Amino acid sequence: MLNIVVCVSGGGTNLQAIMDAIDTGKIADTRILRVISNNHNAYALARAKEHGIDAICVSPRDYETRELFHQALLQAVDEVKPDLIVLAGFLVVIPQEMIRRYVNQIINIHPSLIPAFCGTGYYGLKVHEAALARGVKVTGATVHFVDEGTDTGPILLQKAVEVKEGDTPKILQQRVMEQAEWIILPQAIDMIAQNAKSEKGAAK
Ligand code: GAR
Repeated sequence: MLNIVVCVSGGGTNLQAIMDAIDTGKIADTRILRVISNNHNAYALARAKEHGIDAICVSPRDYETRELFHQALLQAVDEVKPDLIVLAGFLVVIPQEMIRRYVNQIINIHPSLIPAFCGTGYYGLKVHEAALARGVKVTGATVHFVDEGTDTGPILLQKAVEVKEGDTPKILQQRVMEQAEWIILPQAIDMIAQNAKSEKGAAK
């Protein structure tokens, strides 16, 4: 069984895709131990609770320093001892200590074909604004492992999505979610779960 923590900041449609894929068996042998948000108002928290999943908020606003926030975030993760941390629209820079502690155990979904439109300042709608401003004809999404840089870790999966005449950032964002993110994020988790299972089997 692959035990995961999912970190979210907003609407949580990617979290929903993961929960649905677990329910329908598209992701095998996986359970979500906890959902963590940095934002008290994130609708993602309600989605998790509705699903009966432990959901907590660790907000930087509740801590006097960034350091204390980082400690609390790390503690919220460590407490449940996950095999994998999934950043599903988590718009917080991950503490270096967490990256060092969970090497190859953190994945992120980014709404572009990395290395285009990624790195510092490229998140959420800004990514799609930049893609439209550059006039690209194809964009997409990427699932990658998280290393110490921003969006620089090894790529696991990518899926391309067409940009259409008349697209606005919001329209493009929705298409990228529907045609790429909600598909490749569950796929990546399933791949990791299958891999963990075969490694366990081999160790027996
Ligand atoms: C998604 O489009 C995700 O790719 C993006 O935030 C959105 C969250 O939506 N993540 C980033 O931009 C990370 N750099 P959701 O809360 O509905 O899943």
